Amino acid sequence: MRALVLAGGTGTRLRPLTHTSAKQMVPVANKPVLFYGLESIARAGIIDVGIVVGDTAAEIRAAVGDGSRFGLKVTYIPQHAPLGLAHAVLVARDFLGEEDFLMYLGDNFICGGITGLVEDFQVKRPDAHILLTRVADPGAFGVAELGPDGRVVGLEEKPERPRSDLAMVGVYLFTPAVHEAVRNIQPSRRGELEITHALQRLIDTGRRVDSTLIEDYWKDTGSVVDMLEVNRTVLESAEPRLDGLVDEHSEIIGRVVVEAGSQIRGSRIVGPVVIGADSRITGSYVGPFTSIGERCRLDDCEVEYSVVLPETRITGVRRIAASLIGRNVEVSPASHGPRTHRLVLGDHSTVQIAS
Ligand code: TTP
Repeated sequence: MRALVLAGGTGTRLRPLTHTSAKQMVPVANKPVLFYGLESIARAGIIDVGIVVGDTAAEIRAAVGDGSRFGLKVTYIPQHAPLGLAHAVLVARDFLGEEDFLMYLGDNFICGGITGLVEDFQVKRPDAHILLTRVADPGAFGVAELGPDGRVVGLEEKPERPRSDLAMVGVYLFTPAVHEAVRNIQPSRRGELEITHALQRLIDTGRRVDSTLIEDYWKDTGSVVDMLEVNRTVLESAEPRLDGLVDEHSEIIGRVVVEAGSQIRGSRIVGPVVIGADSRITGSYVGPFTSIGERCRLDDCEVEYSVVLPETRITGVRRIAASLIGRNVEVSPASHGPRTHRLVLGDHSTVQIAS
């Protein structure tokens, strides 16, 4: 059995971060979201992994390499444009050969792993197997309709009138039967070859598509709100560890990880919080559900429920909340004029100011 991990795409919903970086590399508790997926694939006993890459191929390659540190053998599969999830299967045809495979969306996060699902699929071997979860807004997802025996009888992509509240999760199991299906579908209205349509074609040609309703937590980290929520969930189970320096004027409360080389001085850190290596936090408050990346500097500021990427400096600002702040960013008070906001923001940035 092989795995196909999708790490291309455009990531429009995570702009401006995705102007300079792959969305699968945005960190959750200071580790790229893609790595959690690769670790679960390795735990499920799969070794041969094809990673579909687009414009951000170089960054993904630099981070994952040959996959050996995950116990994987990685092959990179270029996709010249993000033409859909079924298109990714099409371009991976040679890599996949005649083996069954697991398809995993590189920006998806699943607690509890996939080992049981992979084992179950190998025993029962339906033509395809999808994972479903109940959602409040099915119209934003691929939605499944189940028959009385639990088999999938119909699928729709982002329907206006959803027939159920069962949304497809970004993990799929396929036999080689899917290759005929992806070759015989047409691009959708948004110009993509939809995996939903390939699955529907399997059903229409008499193939068996099974499903499992997952109870465990699942999130697509494609938007800022979802990213902060996944970060919160992962931090909740972080093992507290103080490897850096915490001075006697600081207070550490709850689940807090301070990585080696970091210094916390005269600050209050209320967990769950992760502070990356070689960061310096001085005279500041870092509140619950926050990740601070490596080599950051926080002086005289307050940050909570946020993700801050490496090498960012925040000085004299209170209070930052529910924010996703990129790499090498500088946030500080304006030095001229009373109550002035001075902004230098990248394209597609979002700023909400409390005034
Ligand atoms: P999506 O979140 O559906 O698409 P996207 O990355 O273009 O994001 P946005 O909607 O914000 O513009 O993609 C799910 C995963 O699959 C993600 O990891 C990117 C990857 N992907 C590919 O590798 N190739 C593709 O053609 C598409 C559409 C997605």
